[in-house]
Amino acid sequence: MDNFQLFNPVNIVFGKNTIGELPNLLKDKSNILFAYGGGSIKKNGVYQQIKTALSHKTVFEFAGIEANPDYDTLMKAVEICRKDNIDFILAVGGGSVIDGCKFIAHAAKYKGKNPWEILLGKPMKDAIPLGCILTLSATGSEMNTFSVISKRSTNEKKAFSSPLSFPKFSILDPSITFSLPERQVINGIIDPFVHVAEQYLTYDVNAPLQNRQSEAILKTLIEEGPKALKNPTNYDVRANLMWCATNALNGTIGKGVPQDWATHEIGHELTACFGLDHAQTLAVILPAVLKYEFAQKKKRLSHFGQVIFNIKANSDNKIAKSAIEKTENFFRSLGAKTRISEYKISKKALKPIPTQVIKTAGGKKLGEHMHIGEKEISEILDLAF
Ligand code: NZQ
Ligand code: ZN
Repeated sequence: MDNFQLFNPVNIVFGKNTIGELPNLLKDKSNILFAYGGGSIKKNGVYQQIKTALSHKTVFEFAGIEANPDYDTLMKAVEICRKDNIDFILAVGGGSVIDGCKFIAHAAKYKGKNPWEILLGKPMKDAIPLGCILTLSATGSEMNTFSVISKRSTNEKKAFSSPLSFPKFSILDPSITFSLPERQVINGIIDPFVHVAEQYLTYDVNAPLQNRQSEAILKTLIEEGPKALKNPTNYDVRANLMWCATNALNGTIGKGVPQDWATHEIGHELTACFGLDHAQTLAVILPAVLKYEFAQKKKRLSHFGQVIFNIKANSDNKIAKSAIEKTENFFRSLGAKTRISEYKISKKALKPIPTQVIKTAGGKKLGEHMHIGEKEISEILDLAF
């Protein structure tokens, strides 16, 4: 096992009616920015619950943080934070709102001229504290330090990580997810599945605990995911999916083991250029990365195939191949597309992608062996087409 440090201070408040905990959680805060997305919280009653819970506070509202949060939108909230001396940000939404608020929190305290530099890795000394109410379980943003920001004016999508991004608390009420449209339920199964895959389908370093933690999440997603699509208001199913998504990217399963992330890095560029949902990009790229990296990943894929899909055959080769097929079939069974061509994107339009992926990665090659460069990305895109 590799050396590691693990620190995670997020107070998770999980369960039914937990929005009622807000007044306790915000006891010593006075000027609060309540930030949310395009309005789903007004339709499912969450907005009203929050207004009631915050009725004795000074609250500034910021609506309209879009999916794949945009730099220019977020900078408008930064102005409010500076002007009104906001001392706490309450992010209410999915990964986009939470990520957007992590950026707002840092940019409001940024002393330089161009806050986009935060995305370029400038170390940050200060940020406004934030808390979350999660409405879509998928990204794990509610319990991690990551934030992914898009800049539509330049077709960029970049991530930053800062310990100041850890939410002070995250309220996880699974019943809030009953109102998700089917497409977002599918996204909320695939994104955590791929988060686990990126930390588990690499190579063995003798870390059976982390492997089994990963397998527990994958098995639960495969069992519970289809149930959520069939019966969208089953609380227990939603609770299991929500807790899977948080655990898939809260730092635990990836400690001490190699990590891949090539699928995510290629996927982010597909979102930036073609507007696909984050998880839609993962469903097309992961099977192609697994095929392309077959030689390096074969042993792990074989183990994964046996434990997760119960595949029996007389060679690692056969089991590993079948495991990739079963992964793709699982995505398709949920209703996800698994080929780029199904999105009516032409091969020609994909040409600039490899160069952009490597540019966004700061010139570094991708994957657990760091050997996936422009040529390799281009071949992966061919396999995914
Ligand atoms: O904006 P509203 O009206 O709220 O609608 C949203 C949005 O249109 C809707 N929605 C959310 N909760 C709902 C709901 N609709 C009905 N009922 C509810 N309860 O769902 C739509 C999508 O929301 P979004 O937040 O964009 O989805 P998701 O949580 O999948 O977040 C995607 C973003 O997170 C980034 C992605 O790149 C993307 O930008 N990621 C963040 C990560 C992190 N911070 O660790 C890791 C991930 O790999 C990912 O990159
Ligand atoms: Zn993801």
